[in-house]
Amino acid sequence: MNVRDSEHIIAELNQKEPYELTDNLKDADLIIINTCSVREKPVAKLFSEIGVFNKHKKKSAKIGVAGCTASHLGKEIIKRAPVVDFVLGARNVSKITEVIDKKHAVEINTDFDESTYAFGEYRSNTFKAMVNISIGCDKSCTFCIVPATRGDEISIPSALIVQEITKAVANGAKEVMLLGQNVNHYGRRFSGMDEIDNFTQLLQKISQIEGLERIRFTSPHPLHMDDAFLEEFASNPKICKQIHVPLQSGSTRVLQQMKRGYTKENFINRCEKIRTLCPQATISTDIIVGFPGESEIDFEDTMEVLEKVRFEQMFSFKYSPRPHTEAAAFEDQIDDALAGERLTKLQTRHTEILDEIMDAQMGKIHKVYFDELKPNGRISGRSDDGKLFFVKGSEELLGCIVDIKVTKTSRGALEGVLV
Ligand code: 5AD
Ligand code: SF4
Repeated sequence: MNVRDSEHIIAELNQKEPYELTDNLKDADLIIINTCSVREKPVAKLFSEIGVFNKHKKKSAKIGVAGCTASHLGKEIIKRAPVVDFVLGARNVSKITEVIDKKHAVEINTDFDESTYAFGEYRSNTFKAMVNISIGCDKSCTFCIVPATRGDEISIPSALIVQEITKAVANGAKEVMLLGQNVNHYGRRFSGMDEIDNFTQLLQKISQIEGLERIRFTSPHPLHMDDAFLEEFASNPKICKQIHVPLQSGSTRVLQQMKRGYTKENFINRCEKIRTLCPQATISTDIIVGFPGESEIDFEDTMEVLEKVRFEQMFSFKYSPRPHTEAAAFEDQIDDALAGERLTKLQTRHTEILDEIMDAQMGKIHKVYFDELKPNGRISGRSDDGKLFFVKGSEELLGCIVDIKVTKTSRGALEGVLV
């Protein structure tokens, strides 16, 4: 989501202002730091980054802070770092051309409706297009700051989504990544009329776009994974067989405290349904350890779900108390060292599972879509189920979907040859 927001900012500046991208900090007239605030660490990093940029930048260069930390800290950022020229919230990207010339402008309105706003065209990779399908989030997970920084959920009208994908396909993209905080909640609220009222229908409509070969999406919510959606996922040949199912915790008690709306059993049932309907699918997840009140038994529930589902990819985090969230005020916060121990245990076990999964890939054949040239005559791409591949090859393979046989495995990526 943040990467796409950055592309929108670049597109607007390219088209409406005399700016172009540079890799060289000393050449820059404008430096924009796009930020995340989902955990505390990136927020602390922001202020050290501002200091580094300020030290090495051209004297006249402006610094702007955009994204979720901009939304939740607002003018506090300028107070703490007066070298910052403007602050632009995660839901105010389209105002970039207004704020760059206003000293100490702060635009952080989370009621702002960007759902029908058409941004200029800029894509960092022409082979794969990221396209937003909704903005904001209507859930109230007690650990999460996102509803406070990105505001209420609004779906983007399907005609606009189709128009944007069609344009990207005409410019060379065979793959689209649909983006939203909660993609399979699509259709609950539009700023205008729309004939589509759920995500499954949207997927069906998008898959009719000629020339589009692959559809990915992130992130769906386990609560809205109804059978119709999973059947569409499994049977639609354009939908890549990789699905993110964010667990957060394996303990039903903790899930209740988190206000996630599902139980451990519901979650396992949805994953089993995916494995049955679509045995070739890979399942990834997000897990938080050390949520307030998490007992040893709760943590064992999380370990048990890991054993049952054997996630192909797992993003795991220590709980980080965030402002504007309910859980930050919970009394039974967990000791940091204990949370660290649990995180290590979880990650160690997942690494073992991942090694087994990747070792079993040896000799398998995957359809890989190549999208990036790498140094030393190599090229990279992803299989339909989301595995990263490196293969010897040159430009001719860029933008092609080719059968590749795995010749070497490792935890993070696979190597292979054309068959
Ligand atoms: N502490 C730790 N992890 C968090 N996430 C969201 N909020 C927090 C928090 N306060 C994680 C969740 C989410 C992912 C994007 O970040 O697992 O799915
Ligand atoms: Fe945050 Fe929950 Fe919304 Fe995801 S669904 S963005 S975790 S509030």
